[in-house]
Amino acid sequence: MSQPTIESILQENRLFHPSAEFSQTARIKSLGEYRALCDRASADPQAFWADLARQELHWFQPWDSVLDWSDPPFAKWFTQGKLNLSYNCLDRHLTTDKRDKPAIVWEGEPGDSRTLTYAELHQDVCKFANVLKDLGVQKGDRVGIYMPMIPEAAIAMLACARIGAPHSVVFGGFSAEALRDRLIDVEANVVITADGGWRKDAIVPLKEQVDTALKDARVAVHHVLVVQRTGQATAMEPGRDVWWHDLAPTASTNCPAEPMDSEDMLFVLYTSGSTGKPKGVVHTTGGYNLYAHITTQWIFDLQENDVYWCTADVGWITGHTYVVYGVLSNGATSVMYEGAPRGSNPGCFWDVIEKHQVSVFYTAPTAIRAFIKMGDEHPKARDLSSLRLLGTVGEPINPEAWMWYHTVIGGERCPIVDTWWQTETGGIMITALPGAIPTKPGSATLPFPGIQADVVDLEGNSVGVNEGGYLAVRYPHPGMMRTIYGDPDRFRRTYWEHIPPKDGNYLYFAGDGARRDEDGYFWVMGRVDDVINSAGHRLGTMEIESALVSHPAVAEAAVVGKPDDIKGEDIVAFVTLEGTHQSSEALAKELKQHVTKEIGAIARPGEIRFAEALPKTRSGKIMRRLLRDLAAGAEISGDTSTLEDRGVLEKLREG
Ligand code: WT7
Repeated sequence: MSQPTIESILQENRLFHPSAEFSQTARIKSLGEYRALCDRASADPQAFWADLARQELHWFQPWDSVLDWSDPPFAKWFTQGKLNLSYNCLDRHLTTDKRDKPAIVWEGEPGDSRTLTYAELHQDVCKFANVLKDLGVQKGDRVGIYMPMIPEAAIAMLACARIGAPHSVVFGGFSAEALRDRLIDVEANVVITADGGWRKDAIVPLKEQVDTALKDARVAVHHVLVVQRTGQATAMEPGRDVWWHDLAPTASTNCPAEPMDSEDMLFVLYTSGSTGKPKGVVHTTGGYNLYAHITTQWIFDLQENDVYWCTADVGWITGHTYVVYGVLSNGATSVMYEGAPRGSNPGCFWDVIEKHQVSVFYTAPTAIRAFIKMGDEHPKARDLSSLRLLGTVGEPINPEAWMWYHTVIGGERCPIVDTWWQTETGGIMITALPGAIPTKPGSATLPFPGIQADVVDLEGNSVGVNEGGYLAVRYPHPGMMRTIYGDPDRFRRTYWEHIPPKDGNYLYFAGDGARRDEDGYFWVMGRVDDVINSAGHRLGTMEIESALVSHPAVAEAAVVGKPDDIKGEDIVAFVTLEGTHQSSEALAKELKQHVTKEIGAIARPGEIRFAEALPKTRSGKIMRRLLRDLAAGAEISGDTSTLEDRGVLEKLREG
């Protein structure tokens, strides 16, 4: 098994139709119904989104105009409209029979579990919000969240949304240094964390990492709110740090949701690009709430009794939209699991499905491939008959893994939605609607109604059927990011000017390569920029290179991805050394450790290759294409005529 190679994907022509039984009760029941929605959305996009916003969300005050696109690429949706995402996720369900329905069903890695009904979650969120207010957090203040996968992570996010304080969740697997950089960039005053979290049978000391991050004077944080999870000894700085369990018993449960402007900032989430430091992707309230809500409802076909589980961590956009906001906005039950696939418990995902009778399950190809390797006996020993719908996200899924998911997990009866989207798009953009659109293994199929996705050349012209090109989106949609925090110019340049706008028509450039087949189905081929997708994590090669050259032994570094059976891509670093430093096994290990310290274990190179020099063009640009071929052990494919010194290549080959 490997990355979906061009060959394996080009040969793929199997078509899987949803069963008549599934379609009959589905939210969207047929291809005809899907097409009708698309037609309505393209005939009058604003009316399409406005109708949904009116029907599906609670507004404290209606909007003036649906879309203000007078200053592209800066879009405004539902201007002057007032709403609150936490109200839409909680309060409005309390007057219905959802009041006592489980909102969050949580499983801890060591086997502990908790269930919170909508009424209970509402109370906890109100208390948490009042504690934040007591710590001085005001509307508009940014709050850092660095948490394990425990209910309090969702509670913290909802509490921030409730009082209008944009949150910036930093994945708990990021290092203290990475956390520090994000806290500085987002100018956070308060951080919410836990003493620790369980990850692969060990405790990650989150609070300790926060302490390290806060040693830097540029971090403006004056309070740290700490949730007790693991119970290990944890240092607390008087005056700065407070325990949630000390304040919770006396905190008031009365905290009305703040009426937010539709365009008020909801959260900032950092993601990697091909250049520079990670970008703070800004999402706002109204458009994001609507898009999270409607995509979750239609794509995961939410029905009253569904138990829905998305395995993503809340540190990523998938966790924001499809663990917390989209699910709760619909009043559905969201399963949260602290554990990750691990050799010590090869049946852990299937246990959770069996125990909680999960009916809709959404995970990543890298997890699927890891479980394939652990053996079919584990899922086969569990009762997975509660499942009715499966989803994947994060990278292209190779048809072999798709077929395993379909057969071994889905019992050949569950449709699979392969969902293409990005941190930037807020919600799913290209996907099957499970009762309507037949699927092909390895294809994300068709755009969500209202999304004008296309495959284009660098002039913005659509390419022909089955021709490769760049994935782009033609018209704004409500879930789209609004800007990069503190850097609107970078927003414009990165996403909207890569393909120059023609006659004021802006095209969103996604950074992925793709083709469309004769049925209009999208086949996403992966990133076309210097971004590596390793185990579903998006990493900029430049970030890893900067981490490497910050080590005193390293002169130069170039990082590329190499095909990997489980991770999709593994990270390979080519490194040249300073002065008298000698290459050695020990140094390679030290450099890997250094990257872990600077960014986190998700960025740790699988391989360090020492070199005397790196292949460069005459103008001094590192030729990564050659390094990619070398790392993969393949023949150098393309043109090497621009290479400045051919000897360098020979040496690298021998090394
Ligand atoms: C990049 C976005 C938002 C989901 C989690 C990752 C790749 C995502 C698919 C898919 C092929 C996919 C793309 C995209 N990607 N889903 N179904 N098929 N590729 O979010 O970290 O912002 O990464 O993930 O390359 O650009 P992200």
